[in-house]
Amino acid sequence: MEETPHRRRAHTRTRDLERYAGLFAARTGVMRSSAMRDLMAITARPEVISLAGGLPDTSTFPAGTFAAQMTRIAQESTAEALQYGPTEGFAETVDCIVEVMGAEGMLPDPDDVIVTTGGQQAIDLICKTLVDPGDVVVCEAPTYPGAVPVFCSYQAETIQIDCDEDGMRIDDLEEVLEQLDREGRRPKFVYSVPSFQNPAGVTMSLERRRRLVELARRRELLVVEDNPYGLLRFGGQAMPPLYQLDGGDFVIYVGTFSKILSPGIRLGWAVAPPPVMEKIVLGKQAADLCTSTLTQHFVREYFAEGRWREYIADLVEIYRGRRDAMVDALREHFPAQATWTEPEGGLFIWATLPEYIDTSDLLAKALREDVAFVPGQAAYVDESRGRSSMRLNFSGVSEEEIREGVRRIGKAIAEQVELYGALTGEREAVPAPEVEPAKPPPADADVLPFRRSGEGAA
Ligand SMILES: Cc1ncc(COP(=O)(O)O)c(C=O)c1O
Repeated sequence: MEETPHRRRAHTRTRDLERYAGLFAARTGVMRSSAMRDLMAITARPEVISLAGGLPDTSTFPAGTFAAQMTRIAQESTAEALQYGPTEGFAETVDCIVEVMGAEGMLPDPDDVIVTTGGQQAIDLICKTLVDPGDVVVCEAPTYPGAVPVFCSYQAETIQIDCDEDGMRIDDLEEVLEQLDREGRRPKFVYSVPSFQNPAGVTMSLERRRRLVELARRRELLVVEDNPYGLLRFGGQAMPPLYQLDGGDFVIYVGTFSKILSPGIRLGWAVAPPPVMEKIVLGKQAADLCTSTLTQHFVREYFAEGRWREYIADLVEIYRGRRDAMVDALREHFPAQATWTEPEGGLFIWATLPEYIDTSDLLAKALREDVAFVPGQAAYVDESRGRSSMRLNFSGVSEEEIREGVRRIGKAIAEQVELYGALTGEREAVPAPEVEPAKPPPADADVLPFRRSGEGAA
């Protein structure tokens, strides 16, 4: 048979591995893949209902607006839109960012802002600027699954602090900081998603926000506030961002256009005190020189039109309906022992199943039913945690698909519960009864105490 280049490649794979293995940097040994990215290849299949990604529903964006704006860019700014731009981003993009942050009560100095390739790059650049191998980074448990691979690739020692329904437990944080003091170690920063957290959907209370900022100021501790969802609020009181409470001395802010406009444009930003920003700019120069000038032009045109707040209001209405549909479906199809959050905004619900169910195994079953979610362990650096939890996204698909997707996951869970019952002789109620009194979560649960079906607030 003829040797095609493809065939030759298959033959040499083992030898190649040996050849390259000795060349890899030490950090590649601790790099983790992103659970969501891995799932994307599977969830791209049209028959799969994906509750896995953090996808905003971009089909809601008016095609006519997009076409008109891109045409205007082509007619008026082709040369500039196709050219390199400043590493910090265009001043006009920064003006849009200042406007978005202003909508949540923040007043950043435009000189403290850098435009990045998504919020994801901002997290990466902050780590590049601050973290040496072995340095301590503190974050929530569970934390944003996309931050885990970043902390790992900078070889941070990551300590996760449990959340409850008021966000990160600041008492636990203080204890950890004191323990670190005793060991003579100083964390490089505390990373938090205080509003409608990804993945847990919880929001940090005002009292905890104040305590965290006060702690940061007292200890000269940097806090990285990642806030993609603050403007996607369906209910409850607006909370001041940590950046607003602190004024920008100890809080480094990360924002993005991904969830309020489009993730495809890959535009995010960081706001940091000038000495930190100087290093972040150097890090970005080395990474990609500048953020896409074409999509910066798009944002400029879009904001000039003045409808951006209305579009967010439209999204909020759509996502509120989808959140409600998901909560209803969870009540109908998940077992009585399951708990889940009922977020007042954002894109995610975090559900926790009986602890004998491993959600990575469950995912394999669910994929056979053509439905996907993110297993909880993706939100932990220590992969032995979060094993009976899952992140469910409600923004990316229709209410009908949400109901069907949750039904299919419920079916896969019911099979696991049945199997467990058969093996142990214990019987579990499936599905949940209509109204069930709240069951206190186990003392060592990763995240507590989340609302049980039928209980209060939305
Ligand atoms: C908390 C959080 N931070 C950062 C990001 C990265 O977003 P992007 O790079 O699209 O701005 C996401 C995306 O889901 C997120 O949820």
